[in-house]
Amino acid sequence: MKFITPILSLAGSMSEDHKQSAIIREGELEKAFGKAKPRILSGMRPTGKLHIGHFAGALEPWVKLQNIAENFHLIADYHVLTTKLDTSDIAQNTIDMAIDWIAFGIDPEKSPIFRQSKVKEHTELFLVFSMLITKARLERNPAVKEQVRDLGIGEGMTFGHLGYPVLQAADILLYKGDLVPVGEDQVPHVEMTREFARDFNNHYANVFPIPRAYLSETPRLPGTDGKRMSKSIGNTILLSDTPDDTWKKMKTAVTDPQKVRRNDPGRPEICLVYGYHGKWNPLEVKDIHDGCSSGALGCVDCKKRVTDKINDSFAPQRQKRIELAGDQNAVLKIIEQGEVRAHDEAGKTMSEVRSAMKFG
Ligand code: TRP
Repeated sequence: MKFITPILSLAGSMSEDHKQSAIIREGELEKAFGKAKPRILSGMRPTGKLHIGHFAGALEPWVKLQNIAENFHLIADYHVLTTKLDTSDIAQNTIDMAIDWIAFGIDPEKSPIFRQSKVKEHTELFLVFSMLITKARLERNPAVKEQVRDLGIGEGMTFGHLGYPVLQAADILLYKGDLVPVGEDQVPHVEMTREFARDFNNHYANVFPIPRAYLSETPRLPGTDGKRMSKSIGNTILLSDTPDDTWKKMKTAVTDPQKVRRNDPGRPEICLVYGYHGKWNPLEVKDIHDGCSSGALGCVDCKKRVTDKINDSFAPQRQKRIELAGDQNAVLKIIEQGEVRAHDEAGKTMSEVRSAMKFG
């Protein structure tokens, strides 16, 4: 009997070139796929209502891709367990996230939305993949190292948490995802998914495509305090915030500390509010830059202008959000319909996997 060479052995020898191709950027899509419709698989852990960082970094790219690709959107509820065993809010968080997805442009008729925990093939493929990878390779994953440091867990990491990327690889490959639109921090997970696909294909049969991470051009937006945007820090603007809430939060945003008085010249390059203008007010961005640097534009006015742009651009989606939130049973039904389609796809792939492995 021939033993599988652990994927680990491939990882260290990957050339730079090889690594490059794990990523595809917004502008390169057409060249890569031409007329063929790529399959998209992406998802988020359901942590509740989404903020503008989720929108700019993930949701908006998903919505754009929906017209040229075939999207599947995963609610990664089992993944929540890796850092939080308390599941009392999981059902509500799932609904809240799905409402944001739909209100801000995911069309569930085109793009199924489904829970990981309801499509049992995820756990089945997770088990198979868990046999293809060494513990050492998992421990080398930079995302895991970061969490060990940030959460201070060290030796306390569970088996499931260490296996986070194994489940994520199963999520992606069950749907034969070609493209995984995610933030830059997720690229190591996609690289590992590629290793799983290659390793399985080499050892059994050619079942899986080799997926690539898709990165949009929007730079990461910092929170209103200038730090990484995160709900737990409370430095976010939520998609579900009212125009008033949006303004209240924007008013407190940190700006250039050297711009003390209204007419002091500021440095837009270091100001997070200027970054928000880049995203929501692209036509006036030069004007804002000039006004800030000359001292003609004060921070309060500058913040007001970007707040108005955000509120205007979100108005229809926020309205739709309110309507959806009024009928949460209907939202659950939409998810359940997505699960029928997801299960269909996942079932087909899993039969290919089983027959490639001679499990019949
Ligand atoms: N790890 C992702 C996050 O933290 C969530 C996720 C789980 C995911 N499975 C996925 C993303 C598959 C893309 C594809 O946001």
